[in-house]
Amino acid sequence: MRIGIDFGTTNSSVARAHRSGEVDLARFPSGGDLTDAYRSLLYLEQITELGRKTVKSWTGPEGIEHYLLAENKGRLIQSLKSFLASRSLKSTEVFGRRTRLEDLIARIVKDLREKAGRQFGMEIRSAVVGRPVHFVGAEDAAGDDYAQTRLAEAFRIAGFESVQFEMEPVAAAHYYESTLDHDELILIGDFGGGTSDFSLVQVGPTIRRRGRTPEDLLGNAGVGIAGDAFDAKIVRKLVSPALGAGTQLRSMDKILPVPIWYTRNWNAGIIFRC
Ligand SMILES: Nc1ncnc2c1ncn2[C@@H]1O[C@H](COP(=O)(O)OP(=O)(O)OP(=O)(O)O)[C@@H](O)[C@H]1O
Ligand SMILES: [Mg+2]
Repeated sequence: MRIGIDFGTTNSSVARAHRSGEVDLARFPSGGDLTDAYRSLLYLEQITELGRKTVKSWTGPEGIEHYLLAENKGRLIQSLKSFLASRSLKSTEVFGRRTRLEDLIARIVKDLREKAGRQFGMEIRSAVVGRPVHFVGAEDAAGDDYAQTRLAEAFRIAGFESVQFEMEPVAAAHYYESTLDHDELILIGDFGGGTSDFSLVQVGPTIRRRGRTPEDLLGNAGVGIAGDAFDAKIVRKLVSPALGAGTQLRSMDKILPVPIWYTRNWNAGIIFRC
């Protein structure tokens, strides 16, 4: 039995492949329902308990629920995968404490590992993990290697003993290939939140029988432009102006621009409620 994990910029999924070839997805509670797409986000709050300050954190749908319910909003962190290739972003300040990007990602991956493990009735310690052809912001192969090493470190912190990486668009080809009764040369497009990846792959029964070789992957390419860029444009051009961005307000006889934090807080609330 093998575990496959797609740690996405926006959504993550965990699958279990049986020896028979049958595959099932982990399903996570979300707003009274179940979802196989776990939001790759982290929400942190500083809480004072018995006079001591502690930081509590939630991931995925629970993170969204706590964020929406909180009167004093804590720190909501999304699209962490997009920063893996950034050599200038090593860590961020979370309630006065420097926290590494790998530790933040590990917090989400740990929940995925434990929640999927409970559901599958097994301790998950190894997995095949997807990676984009090119990570967002990676300028060359060294940049992609750097990002993959950081992702592997996050999985190690989250309790994984062994992780094998597979290109996300190649992983996407597996299901299609299993339905084929003849060989084909296919172009796969994987349009995500952070990256859009494309691969030209030879697939079919012949390849399945003899086992895939690197030559079957004729070429692949990817760009760091995807859903996040599209969403940001919708928010900037349509949602923010409707909430007052770019307009003015009167404060103690002064005319001031509407502050950015005002529309930003509204945006996040509205997007999650939609
Ligand atoms: N219901 C929807 N209708 C249209 N677009 C959607 C919808 N839900 C999500 N999206 C878009 O899909 C994107 C997320 O896609 P997906 O879940 O495949 O990304 P991901 O796998 O997390 O990212 P990546 O593969 O880049 O790491 C979002 O950024 C959004 O733009
Ligand atoms: Mg994806």
